[in-house]
Amino acid sequence: MKILMLGDIVGRPGRQIVREYLPSIRKKLGADFVVANGENASGGNGLTEKNAKQLLAAPIDVLTMGNHVWKQRETRDYIDRYDRIVRPINYPPKTPGQGAHIYEHDGVRIAVLNMSGQSFMDNLDSPFTAAEQVVPELVADSDILLVDFHAETTSEKIAMGFYLDGKATAVVGTHTHVQTADARVLPKGTAFITDLGMTGPLNGILGVKAGIIIEQLTTKMPVRYEIERQMPWQLNGVLIDVDEGTGRARHIERVYEIFDEN
Ligand SMILES: [Fe+2]
Ligand SMILES: [Fe+2]
Repeated sequence: MKILMLGDIVGRPGRQIVREYLPSIRKKLGADFVVANGENASGGNGLTEKNAKQLLAAPIDVLTMGNHVWKQRETRDYIDRYDRIVRPINYPPKTPGQGAHIYEHDGVRIAVLNMSGQSFMDNLDSPFTAAEQVVPELVADSDILLVDFHAETTSEKIAMGFYLDGKATAVVGTHTHVQTADARVLPKGTAFITDLGMTGPLNGILGVKAGIIIEQLTTKMPVRYEIERQMPWQLNGVLIDVDEGTGRARHIERVYEIFDEN
């Protein structure tokens, strides 16, 4: 089985890439199941219900989230109605939404777990403790376990990869919006990449218009973020070939597509 995992979908360009190009990319890559990070899909900040519906209809099978999960006020009200959305599991216990879910796809049970890192991130519970608590049960109840570890530092993400090596089918990092070149299968069979990158504008700074970020950094004055809309755009992620009998990854390769006017 082939699984496509996509980095953070950013703003209108990101949603348009998913709508216009994902169906053909899915077909070209032979992807059976698609997981994408949706935390920046609505104006770069969070995910509205309308956009969630559009992305899930693309079709993206599961949307994972991150530190921007609550940026759209409505999310707390609708998230419990969508079992195809998971948000970081290490938020406090009473937080709306779910941190993991098991999906049935062509007779294969696919678990998706979303966690947030702690280094340079919101002060959530330890993702390592959270993984210790939920991973054994997820592994027992599913054939494949996919982990989106939404974290800032390379060290914390690589540590999670090795921590779950041989337990998860894949541990992929998100949040930095920049794809890393270290996709590989770890010694015990877990596919890993430090960061998937992003799905959105190429010539912005993590998706925001470059001039705005440069103004902020050169003047130290508050600015209003605006998503870069111009092409070229990019779609970043990984394609993982999975042996669904063992739940181990056979192969992982980076996906890095550029879209331009011509
Ligand atoms: Fe993001
Ligand atoms: Fe993030």
